[in-house]
Amino acid sequence: MSDLKKILINKNLTCKSIWFMRQAGRYLPEFQDIRSKNPNFINLCFNSELCCEITLQPIKRFDLDSAIIFSDILLIPHVLGQKVKFIPNKGPNLNKFELEKFLNNKRKNFTEKLFPVYDAIRKTRKKLKKNKALIAFIGAPWTLITYMLGVKKNELKSLKDKKAVINKITEPLIDYLCTHIKNQVNAGADVIQIFDSWAGLLENSDLPDLCYEPNSKIVSYCKKNQIPTICFPKGIGKNYKDFNEKVRPDGLNLDYDLDPNWAKENLNDVVLQGGMHPEILFKSDEVIYKEAKKYLDIFKDVPYIFNLGHGILPETNPEKLDKLIKFVRKQK
Ligand code: CP3
Repeated sequence: MSDLKKILINKNLTCKSIWFMRQAGRYLPEFQDIRSKNPNFINLCFNSELCCEITLQPIKRFDLDSAIIFSDILLIPHVLGQKVKFIPNKGPNLNKFELEKFLNNKRKNFTEKLFPVYDAIRKTRKKLKKNKALIAFIGAPWTLITYMLGVKKNELKSLKDKKAVINKITEPLIDYLCTHIKNQVNAGADVIQIFDSWAGLLENSDLPDLCYEPNSKIVSYCKKNQIPTICFPKGIGKNYKDFNEKVRPDGLNLDYDLDPNWAKENLNDVVLQGGMHPEILFKSDEVIYKEAKKYLDIFKDVPYIFNLGHGILPETNPEKLDKLIKFVRKQK
């Protein structure tokens, strides 16, 4: 069993699990090389050979104990009928949402369209050592909805008008996401991370319905199926405590705005992961080591998974990441 799974399931303190969000990505020249030959990002996500190769790139380079499958949360709206395009330097662009079209989707077609993702997981699991975990992931309903309905930071006032549509799509979306989780686990994934990257956009009063409740339904589904989960409700500050108590995931990824001492004190019966600001990797080695040691010291007597408070930034020097991993491995 991988250290990641041992920590999440048995709370085994002596294991050391290190992995990074976006560990397969643009900061790696070997990824850039593949990417430059594959200008269509969505097509790349449906190429199981290349997804397998990209997933293993950071594993070959660094002493990591888990791989995260190369894919994207936006493949879900894409296969549900809302074509996704990635505009260079502008991010994702989705076709207009059509409720009828969305509701007319069939689960069988959904699974068939995502076959290349499951195939990539099968291929990767075969090539990955048994003691390394393969993490698969989904976007939480609210985060997917922000892209599907085009909810932007400064447009939250219009959220009220969108509530009726959101209510109609949340349940079917949860159902598709659970199907996607099950299919990924059947293909060989060991752990599921649930990204609610835009949870921080929500008013406190909307968190129960739009964040806690959907995450909780998905985590319950995973518990029933003995699938370990790590949630990441980014940007909700001290509401992490409420989130933890209502959703009860196995693991919780801290974002870089959270005070790790507060987190240790207030987030109980859950394995904590990450927290360090990804921009720290732009600093000198001394600053990086000092910051990493801060997290390791705070969490030294509880199960802790080393990671960051968000994904590795594209400008990161891979050498710095290598030094950080070696430093973390050296600590007791
Ligand atoms: O290494 C890994 O972590 C696995 C691969 C992974 C990608 N996306 C590949 C990717 C994962 C886990 C994701 C999750 C994802 N995708 C999230 C949640 C995590 C987070 O970052 O908050 C979100 C919100 C998305 C949606 C998305 N995909 C955006 C907004 C963008 C464009 C801007 C950006 O952040 O890169 C993508 C594209 C994307 N997904 C790239 C990669 C490597 C960059 C593609 C490129 O231009 O080469």
